[in-house]
Amino acid sequence: MKFGSALLQAALCGVAIAHAGGHHASEEERPFSQEQLDELERKWGTDCARFGPRAIRAAAARQTSFRGYNPRAHLNPYTSWAKVLDCGDIPITPFDNRLALRQMSEAYTELSQRLATAENAESSVPYMNIPKLMTLGGDHSIALPALRALKAKYGKPIAVVHFDAHLDTWHPMNYPSYWIDLEDPSTQSFFTHGNMFWLASTEGLIANGSSIHGGLRTRLSGPVDYEDDTAQGWARIAADDIDEIGTKGVIEQILARIPEDYPVYLSVDIDVIDPGLAPGTGTPEPGGWTTRELIRVLRGIESLNVVGADIVEVSPAFDIAGETTALAAAQVAYEIMTSMVRRGLIEQGRTKEGSVSESAKEATEAVKEAAEKATDKVKDEL
Ligand SMILES: *[C@@H]1O[C@H](CO)[C@@H](O)[C@H](O)[C@H]1NC(C)=O
Repeated sequence: MKFGSALLQAALCGVAIAHAGGHHASEEERPFSQEQLDELERKWGTDCARFGPRAIRAAAARQTSFRGYNPRAHLNPYTSWAKVLDCGDIPITPFDNRLALRQMSEAYTELSQRLATAENAESSVPYMNIPKLMTLGGDHSIALPALRALKAKYGKPIAVVHFDAHLDTWHPMNYPSYWIDLEDPSTQSFFTHGNMFWLASTEGLIANGSSIHGGLRTRLSGPVDYEDDTAQGWARIAADDIDEIGTKGVIEQILARIPEDYPVYLSVDIDVIDPGLAPGTGTPEPGGWTTRELIRVLRGIESLNVVGADIVEVSPAFDIAGETTALAAAQVAYEIMTSMVRRGLIEQGRTKEGSVSESAKEATEAVKEAAEKATDKVKDEL
């Protein structure tokens, strides 16, 4: 990817986070044999999505500003009103989840307080005034600090559109552990990549009734997982549903769930895609959506007021030589970025008409016009 200069409008952050494996204190303190250590190294040594950001960056090498025009949206996100900037990696300790959460939270809060470019800050279009962060990862737990920062910024719970094979709203007690102590505030296992949305819900960060999962298909503790999920305010679209309702039906369900201008956080766990197409992830689940289906759904929900996003759980150690997982993640990043830029242009179209309730058709015309101008500008520059 090519990235703009000093000031940012839309930003990409790599989040390199290791998630701790399940190390329970053993009652029998026997030393590990070399064989066991080798086995552990094979299992856990390359586990985690810590190198996800660099893999996605590398896979985005063929995305360039001079050939970045996205025909479905009639614009080039790299040459439109937004300044696209890579903010680098957030340094995260792989040894201490609590400290990692603090590091992520501080980094996310700091980055989300950055200002827009002078031109965008002065714009009469609110969407352009505030920089948008898109994190590439990395461990999915980054969604918690993201939602904390976004709730503080927008002053209300955030609607989450979550694509994943897994719920990630799991109560920590539903992952059976004899040792867990709900009363112990130092219990690090409350914060994992499988229950950060549960934590977010307990903190009032998730818009009840306006959040939705897509692509679910994993095994559960029991029906209680869905009951808990519903109580936290979520709706669910299973991976299978796409066979009945198609991508169009998935898009309709998502759009019906979220009020038009409500702030949305888009969270894409790459394991929503079938492991046959995207094997580079730590918790693969057979029977997922195709990359094309996911992208089609993302394109279909482009009208949402996306104020932040993540593309996570890319684990290059498990990817194949063709880097299909990292490529999928890079494409997803491009599509989300396109939609963010397009949203700004749509709002610009509305503002010009002096009415926020102008029809989407007219807004689309404005987008096309602005996009054409941007394309001409690029042609002039070349
Ligand atoms: C969400 O709303 C439902 C229905 O009003 C309620 O039962 C549930 O407790 C709410 N959940 C949260 C997390 O606020």
